[in-house]
Amino acid sequence: MNSKNYYITTPIYYPSDKLHIGHAYCTVATDCLARYRRLQGYNVMFLTGTDEHGQKIENKAKEAGITPKEFVDRIVEGKRGVKDLWKLMNISNDRFIRTTDEYHEKSIQKLFHKMYDKGDIYKGTYKGKYCTPCESFWTESQLVNGKCPDCGRDVVDAEEEAYFFRASKYADRVRKLLTETDFLEPASRVNEMVNNFIDCEGGLQDLCVSRTSFTWGVPVDFDPKHVVYVWFDALFNYITALGYDNDEYDDYEKFWPGVNIVGKEIVRFHSIYWPAFLMSLDLPVPKKVFGHGWLMIDGGKMSKSRGNVVDPYILSELFGVDALRFFLMRTFPFGSDGNFTNELLIQTINSDLANDLGNLVSRTTAMVMKYFDGVLPAGCSGYAAREACDEDLISMSSALRDKYEKAMDGYAPHDALTEVFRVIQRANKYIDETAPWVLAKDMDANGSRLAFVLYNLLESARICGVLLTPFIPSSCDKLFDYIGTSSDIRTWDSAAEWGSLPESVKVEKGENLFPRIDEEKMLNELEEIEQNLKKDAGGSGNEVTVDPFLEEKVDFDTFCRNDLRVVKVKACEAVKKSDKLLRFTLDDGTGQDRQILSGIHKWYEPETLVGKTLVAIVNLPPRKMMGLESNGMLLSAVHYENGEETLSLVMPGDDIPAGSRLC
Ligand code: ME8
Repeated sequence: MNSKNYYITTPIYYPSDKLHIGHAYCTVATDCLARYRRLQGYNVMFLTGTDEHGQKIENKAKEAGITPKEFVDRIVEGKRGVKDLWKLMNISNDRFIRTTDEYHEKSIQKLFHKMYDKGDIYKGTYKGKYCTPCESFWTESQLVNGKCPDCGRDVVDAEEEAYFFRASKYADRVRKLLTETDFLEPASRVNEMVNNFIDCEGGLQDLCVSRTSFTWGVPVDFDPKHVVYVWFDALFNYITALGYDNDEYDDYEKFWPGVNIVGKEIVRFHSIYWPAFLMSLDLPVPKKVFGHGWLMIDGGKMSKSRGNVVDPYILSELFGVDALRFFLMRTFPFGSDGNFTNELLIQTINSDLANDLGNLVSRTTAMVMKYFDGVLPAGCSGYAAREACDEDLISMSSALRDKYEKAMDGYAPHDALTEVFRVIQRANKYIDETAPWVLAKDMDANGSRLAFVLYNLLESARICGVLLTPFIPSSCDKLFDYIGTSSDIRTWDSAAEWGSLPESVKVEKGENLFPRIDEEKMLNELEEIEQNLKKDAGGSGNEVTVDPFLEEKVDFDTFCRNDLRVVKVKACEAVKKSDKLLRFTLDDGTGQDRQILSGIHKWYEPETLVGKTLVAIVNLPPRKMMGLESNGMLLSAVHYENGEETLSLVMPGDDIPAGSRLC
């Protein structure tokens, strides 16, 4: 790859339902990184797309009474579909791949065949669990409380013939890649991958890459009762979209290897199986796999079934695309999880965009208009009697690009924005320190200082504007228009050159870039929208059910024998090698820590539960799970959405002391 070519990708999303704000988060972040590289002068290829095969989509289409292709077409190409969403959000992808694109399907068949001929794909038996009513195969770890994750019913042991990829053959090379290079970031994810999936008992497992229990997939050309199983089909999109093994495009040599941005839950596929596939074909591995964190709601995973999906379409329309893009990038450190709330969204827009950036631009342009009719006098930037605050603003603005670059190169867009906002805040303080309205009282004595101060403000705003362009492109265009910035000084180079703004620019007073939002009014509006969405979903078959009430009566004394206590979470972590279990260390009021294991990981991330007040039954006999002892059980409320179980931990008020008995 030529050093001036740059390739970056998002995951390809499942079009099994509408995308939510979590998908938008990843796509916006990748878009900002792509725009940043373009700003630096790279020739960028930015790819996103959709992962359209598999049993889930086949089942959903069946439910909807249409073919799988019709189903995905609606979600991807339809009104307010995936493509519309990215257009609305100003996503600058150069290419969009659908795994149902004919060129991709043909390439997948060829790649599968090549790896089979090489002996890296072989036929074996896939053992799993089968849900007869859903006609679905599941692995042990996909089950929820031992039941089908889709309908909650019992599953049976089953086997089917399948092809496997010999990942085990590449275990050493992949381990080396992970531990001796910075291929995977954040580095904190490396140990988890190596310990849990390569150096675990039994070593790296071969991966099942074909299925016979459904048909919605790419057929294996030499054994057509098999379809290629989704991860093989999905991961190769990153090179088929460049034209690898097909004639659709001719960009593979130019752009591969590239950077794969993915969410943390699919780091395993991208950092282990993906490089192993490429090694099998003697192709270069990605330059980087970056696993970002999750946006959560109330500490729980954002999922379509939790009923808390936040629609990026609605939020973009309500708040404005740039405000939403900015909020996502400014608020959540890229490698970590974050809690999404409407309040935080409004507060961030009000404080950073309306107060800090919006005010800087509107106050400065208003003063240039008022005191100099929109054009500063010649020679104003050369004012000699500089004060400490002038030097401070000029040096901070001049040094900004380097700091920003370091953060962006380290996949820390939130840090880059922090640096920019330090300068914006410094500039606002500079207005207060220099008090231009006082200087303006005596233009003869202070006119040239006033012009110098305003020039410094315009120039700082310009530099910040250039560096904010990848994040809020449309608003920066407006900002540049207000302060008379021509295209040659909206560039990367000019962002490091203080004084690039000609003194003679014509400034105009435009509308406020980011009007302040009335928090209370907006929250009410959001609440109303949410209620309407719920109603609509109810009307279109989103069924919410609860367990039937039990017929059998229980006498009061029996009930009282349950010792239910309020407990506080001191620590909480995922149990190694378990997808479901969390290990809680609890304060139960006795002064001694109580350990309880709970199969709640599907709905909560451990770090979000620390400090929470919960309810536990504490007089159950101890039970061993994954070699750890559990002394009791945490209480959750259970309901089902379209048959899918949802657990919510019972959380009494935080003011209730640990150990309080429930009666
Ligand atoms: O996994 N917070 O597709 P998918 C942040 N098709 N990011 C989130 C998120 C959240 N709450 N929810 C989703 C697939 N994402 C496969 C990928 S790639 C070869 C195949 C983002 O529709 C995040 O980037 O489930 C995550 O990895 C991706 O969406 C998963 O999307």
